[in-house]
Amino acid sequence: MPRPIKKAVFPVGGMGTRFLPATKATPKEMLTVVDKPLIQYAVEEARAAGIEEFIFVTGRGKTAIEDHFDHSAELEALLAARGQRDPEALGMLRLPPGAVAYTRQQEPLGLGHAVWCARHLVGDEPFAVLLADELVLAETPCLTQLVSLYERVDGCVFALAEVPREQTNRYGIVDIAKDDGQIVEIKGMIEKPEPAQAPSTTSIIGRYILQPSVFAELGRQERGVGGEIQLTDSLARLLGATPFHGLRFKGQRFDCGSKAGFLKATIAYAMQRPDLREELTAFFRDIRGAD
Ligand code: G1P
Repeated sequence: MPRPIKKAVFPVGGMGTRFLPATKATPKEMLTVVDKPLIQYAVEEARAAGIEEFIFVTGRGKTAIEDHFDHSAELEALLAARGQRDPEALGMLRLPPGAVAYTRQQEPLGLGHAVWCARHLVGDEPFAVLLADELVLAETPCLTQLVSLYERVDGCVFALAEVPREQTNRYGIVDIAKDDGQIVEIKGMIEKPEPAQAPSTTSIIGRYILQPSVFAELGRQERGVGGEIQLTDSLARLLGATPFHGLRFKGQRFDCGSKAGFLKATIAYAMQRPDLREELTAFFRDIRGAD
């Protein structure tokens, strides 16, 4: 039985320049889809998958994330005085003391570097990585699906999704050894290949289960595409030493790092909400009728 996954790393140090001006003073992970910040969706997904320790790799200007998961005595007293519902019922999520850690990525050197910054907090055990700018709308949360596969196959496990060939240079792309339509055996991976060089159109989305051996590779601090220390490059060096599987998960993925993806996620998540669905459906009917 593979070792259980109890820790998750959330790299949240990125500057979010694609969402300026919204992200000038607000971390991009705090942008809200309907009424919940992106990072809370990721944390809730991790909790649902059995994660007990939450490790955030932050940077300058990211304290709103720490405040968001903290106890807010003033707010809770105010709500109580007004006889309002309890914080949990309002969807507020507090992470228990001791179960949450924040460390800083002091320079924006890439995703691989961000994960490496968490090495002492993770220690010598397998762990999950969740990128908050990817949202997955699914009946069974995406990380839970990955954990189920990991329990059968061990090693490293990624969530995979197809992308249009012209977009391969936005993602990590896998080279496929075997594919049963759901579970993929991975024999290679490359970060942001140009469409002509991409070994497939199957991309790594921001959900990973990784082995601690990746830290030694990341520690070499080798720069890859864009001059950044890429997680994909270090993982590629572990191929052969550890099994790598991908899962074509069940669910709909939204790349909220792009404006169109973010807007699609907002609409899709709002349409799941009984308090919003009807009004929005009428609105869509109206705007369609108007052209
Ligand atoms: C990162 C990873 C990439 C992955 C992507 C998913 O890229 O490096 O392999 O496909 O997340 O969103 P980034 O979005 O940080 O450029």
